[in-house]
Amino acid sequence: MKHKIQEAAAFLRAGKLVAFPTETVYGLGADALNVEAIARIFTVKERPFHHPLIVHLHEVAQLSAWAVNIPEDAWRLAAHFWPGPLTLVLPKAPHVPRIVTGEQETIGLRIPSHPIALALLREFGGGIAAPSANRFTHISPTDASAVIEELGGKVDMILDGGASKVGLESTIIDMTGETPTILRPGMVTAEMLQTILQKKVENKVVASSQRTVRAPGTHHLHYAPTTKTLRVNSESLLDAIHSLSKALLPAAVVLHSAMQMPMRDGIKVVQLADNPEQYAHDLYHTLRELDRQSFQCIIMENVPTTDDWQAIYDRIFKATGSADE
Ligand code: TXA
Ligand code: MG
Repeated sequence: MKHKIQEAAAFLRAGKLVAFPTETVYGLGADALNVEAIARIFTVKERPFHHPLIVHLHEVAQLSAWAVNIPEDAWRLAAHFWPGPLTLVLPKAPHVPRIVTGEQETIGLRIPSHPIALALLREFGGGIAAPSANRFTHISPTDASAVIEELGGKVDMILDGGASKVGLESTIIDMTGETPTILRPGMVTAEMLQTILQKKVENKVVASSQRTVRAPGTHHLHYAPTTKTLRVNSESLLDAIHSLSKALLPAAVVLHSAMQMPMRDGIKVVQLADNPEQYAHDLYHTLRELDRQSFQCIIMENVPTTDDWQAIYDRIFKATGSADE
């Protein structure tokens, strides 16, 4: 692997794109100071230019080379959660190309904990801009085969680091205002952040909808399978399955609670864990696996709205076309 990492760092220096594992999901990396390489990321992902990229670093001290006016609270979070699945949004340093930050004056920064990501960052020395290594609006890849499925030959090199441990994208917290504000929930939860900061953290993304079934199509989809995906509250699940029209069969039902499903032709039940860490780890892999098969729809049992399930709730919400971004 050492040789591979040196080769990958050389590729980055030459302006090429390297997909690499992180503990959250796989990233599509480029030298964060190379404007042409960054432009290629947007092309390969088919991503609109106003969506900013996260810049990955390998040590906390690098923070002041990429951001300015860093508040004490940001240092505190960095010291506690890095390396790990937390991204800090801070005012950008003047030399950071605006293409990286989607033309904004702020920058998202994070130190990932995956040993291969850290080794690559150390070997490269600078910042690596890396969005998730999937096409825009698709599910993020959590292993190397998913990266190949998403981006195939458009990437110059893929480092294989096995399955991502966390399985969901990092928590993003905006540290530029009065009150720290979560822009994207992740497995570093609001309560964990509040415990370290000893103050209230705002949460922009607490899902407001409690409706029973949401059909995709009317909202902007993100983190979404290509199969029609619905979410249903636990208590309505039996009814929903019973009344599924023929056109929606065969269907896959993804559960977390241990409930008895009646056998019905054309229904496949997938049981995920009833604890958020394991569920998060398995979610994207499961959806991708189901997407490869020929189901007419995927039905997700809704998850709790508690702090520990919030990131999962948010991703299911988005996968079923129920959120704006
Ligand atoms: O876990 C992760 O964060 C993964 C791994 C590879 O690190 N990366 C990732 O990147 O999920 P991406 O590009 O797929 O999602 C980054 C999100 C986008 O929704 C973007 O809008 C937001 O981060 N973001 C980045 N910089 C930002 C900024 N300066 N202000 C607000 N949001 C920002
Ligand atoms: Mg992404």
